[in-house]
Parts: sequence; structure tokens; C-alpha cells
Amino acid sequence: MASLSLSDQILLLLTKKDDDGGISSLDLAAELGEEDHQKVVGAIKSLATLDDVIRTEQYVRNVLSLTEEGKIVVSQGSHEFRVWQNIPDSGIELDTLLLGDGGSTRVGLNKAVASGWVRIVKKDDGKSWVERCLNVEVVDVVKSQLLQIINGDSAPLGDDVITDLKRRRLVVSNSVTTFTVSRGANFSQNVERPEAELTAEMMANEEYAKKNFKPYNFNAMGTTLQGGHLHPLLKVKAEFLSILTELGFSEMPTNRFVESSFWNFDALFVPQKHPARDVQDTFFLARPENCTRLPDEEYVARVEKVHTVGDYGSDGYQTPWRREETQRNIMRTHTTAITGRVLYDLAQQKPFKPVKKFSIDRVFRNETLDATHLAEFHQVEGFVADRGLSLGHLIGIMKEFFGRLGIDQLRFKPAYNPYTEPSLEVFAYHKGFKKWVEVGNSGLFRPEMLRPMGLPEDVRIIAWGLSLERPTMIRYGINNIRSLVGHKVDLRLVYSNPLCRLDKVRES
Ligand code: PHE
Repeated sequence: MASLSLSDQILLLLTKKDDDGGISSLDLAAELGEEDHQKVVGAIKSLATLDDVIRTEQYVRNVLSLTEEGKIVVSQGSHEFRVWQNIPDSGIELDTLLLGDGGSTRVGLNKAVASGWVRIVKKDDGKSWVERCLNVEVVDVVKSQLLQIINGDSAPLGDDVITDLKRRRLVVSNSVTTFTVSRGANFSQNVERPEAELTAEMMANEEYAKKNFKPYNFNAMGTTLQGGHLHPLLKVKAEFLSILTELGFSEMPTNRFVESSFWNFDALFVPQKHPARDVQDTFFLARPENCTRLPDEEYVARVEKVHTVGDYGSDGYQTPWRREETQRNIMRTHTTAITGRVLYDLAQQKPFKPVKKFSIDRVFRNETLDATHLAEFHQVEGFVADRGLSLGHLIGIMKEFFGRLGIDQLRFKPAYNPYTEPSLEVFAYHKGFKKWVEVGNSGLFRPEMLRPMGLPEDVRIIAWGLSLERPTMIRYGINNIRSLVGHKVDLRLVYSNPLCRLDKVRES
């Protein structure tokens, strides 16, 4: 019997049982030589996965068990009994009795006094003494109550006694899930258990061909992780990241929230009078108010020229351009500031090499806050730089990118950006909302932005930007941005949301 597995032993016990009334897992544990109940439950559960070999019914019971202190009472007697025992016939001075005691003697003394086993008397010298009361029968009731509990016979004790024992922290009650097991229609003492795992050995010795495998349980829930939960934004970010890297894009270094107006605006041919450069739209830094370093002076001079009098066939804005304005530090309003820096670096590498780049990071705008707007959000931005690119390529790449996000129906609307021409707003049909929603902004970067950087005249750059929050809210059915970002976020949302799987099934 010892060599049999726990489940085989359970099957054997069920075989021997003549009626089929079922047997409790607690009794099984006892019959199997005081086996650990949890292990017995584990074995029952694994047998229950087999096709009607056994039948089970689940019960939840409250089971009383002794605490460590309760066990001491069983072996040495209750506190009050121990106090009574320790008092010599001549009595003992109270201070001596309580000497060096952590409190259990005091508890025992109070109880022993209350039970009428001992009394405290004042001697002539003013000292308190503890003496045994004579002619009382001392029965350690508490100990016998605990013994009753150990023997599973706690019912006659009544609720008040149990409550008192719990209050004295001698017993605790735990809810225990138990099972009643009986034979199923396919019961047999020797069940053939299908394999749960395909191992390397089975493959090597070709045993797998003869084995019967357990079917997959696609309905099984995974266990919830206790830590390391990803916020929905991070899950969608990871999904974007994998789509973009699959498409051959590499990531730009976005590790700066503070940017000079030069990179955020001027380098992108945003006129100094543009409303976006207003305090109503942009956060300006008070300290340090200005950046100390601009990129190389010749480049800055070319930017100034294209803004003021025009260059490369453009008339520019024909308005004054102030150097102080370009140096003002701001919280970046878009990640296109980073794109500008990366393109400038690219222009310095000769000969020009085509690249595909993307970034996903935080940007800041002085917005009026409402259900869908915060003063900061994330942008997903990308560009492709190569010779011979056209609007057709831009539309093609938008279709490919959004197609991989499960967004098939796209519409493009002519738009305006200071740094792109032509510019297109991208709209997607949202099947849930049954309407077209704006998902991004895109275009071909203007020569007024690219040529001062030193990029060859025939290089074309298609680029786009979208928010990370919008697809995340759509994906997770969140309609208020405050449920997604900030102190009102319900952590359960973070714990329980599924991994982000954007619906990639394309409808034909
Ligand atoms: N910077 C634009 C925005 O903030 C997005 C964009 C990026 C548009 C690149 C065109 C090209 O909305």
C-alpha cells in the first residue's frame, strides 16, 4: 500500500467501500494514516479531472483548531490551574508570584480568583498575599474543553464557550473546504491516466505515439499574479512597440521632458507667432528659463533665414525671429521635438541612409482638463526617411500600421501642420461607437524643416503621430481619462485587465 500513490490509495478505499454513500475527504485523510488533508484534496481534484471516475461534492466547514497557547494548556493545564498549582500551602506574596512574568500569570490569577480557587489578602505589614481557598474542588474545565475540541466533539460546548476560548486565543476557527467522494460511472481501481505533459524523453524514445494525452482545457483561468501588474497604458504601449519593431522601426531616445523652444518649434518651422507657442497652450519653465546651448550656430542661422526671409524656394514667414524666443525652455508639447533632433543627427551622417524610427513617450500641454484631456499624455510617433517617398507611401504605411492594430477602415482628411505638407488627419471607423474617430495626424515633412538640417534635397520623410491614451481607452472601454491616469485609478483595473491584444483579425 505504501508504494501506491495517494490517488491510487483513494481509489482502493473507494473500491473497498460496499455502499456508495460517499466518503468525506477528512475521513479519507484519517483512514490514510492521518494524511495531510490538503494533499488528499489535491489527489481528489486530480482524480476528478478524469472522465466520471469519481464524483465529488464540495463543502465548506468551519473547523476549530488549537493555537500554540491552546496546546500548552492541553499539556500543562490552563493559566488559572497553573497559578493555583504553584501556590504553596502557606501562600505566596503577590509581588513574588508576578515576578518576571510576561502577563500569563496575571491572566491566570484573575481567572483563579474569579473561579474562587484562590484569594488575595492584605497582611498586617500592608503586603498582598495570594492564598489557596480551602474546601473547593479545582477542576481544569478549560483543559477538558480543549480536549473535547481536539477529539472533534466541540458541538456540546455551545457558542459562548467557543467564543470565550477564541477570545482567550486558545482556539481559532478556519474554514476548510472538504469533499465528499463517491464512485463515478467509469469507476475503476486502475484508471489509465492520460499524460499531462509531452516530455523530451517521450519524443526521443517515440513513446509519445502510444500515449494518451489529456485534452487542453482552454477554459482554465490562469492564476492571478500577486505583483508586477502592468498598467493598461503600458500594455498597449508594449503592443505598439512590438508592431513597430515587427515593421522594422527602431526606437528614438525620448528621455527628456524639458525641451528648448528651438527643437520643439523653430527647428520644425513653427512660426514664432504660432498660437501653440502661447502660455495658454504650452508650459514654460521658470527656472532655468532659457537653455544655454543651441545646436551648431550655422544650423541656427539657416533656421532663422528660412523663417524670416525664406530659402530653398520658400518665402518663409517674412516676420521677425527672436533668438531669445528660441531659447525659452518648455515642457515638450510633442515628441516631434525628438524626431527633429534625430533627423538633424541623421543629416550629419554622410552618405544618407534610409531609416524607420518611432517613439512612445510623454508630452505636456496646457489644456483645459476634462473627461478626455489631461495636461499630459503619451504620443506614438514614427517616420520613414528615404528617397522617392510620396503621399501614396504615407497612406500605405498608415494602412499597414493601423491594419495591424485591427483598424481596417481608414479615411484621410487634408489638414495643416507647420512642419508637414501635404498633411493628413487619419480617421478610423470605430465599430463599437459606430462612427469615425480621429486616430492620428500625419504628413510629409516640409523642406523648410529638412533642408536647413542638411538633408539631401531628394530625401522625403513621411511621419505621423497619435496618442496612446485614445486607443487604450477604446481598447479597455474606459470613457473618462481620470479612470486611466492619476490618483483616482482603481488598482483593480490594473490587476485584472487582460493583456492587450488589439483585435488583429481582419474582416474580409
Ligand atoms: N506632432 C503632431 C502632433 O502633435 C503629430 C505629427 C507628427 C504630425 C509627425 C505629423 C507628423 O499632433
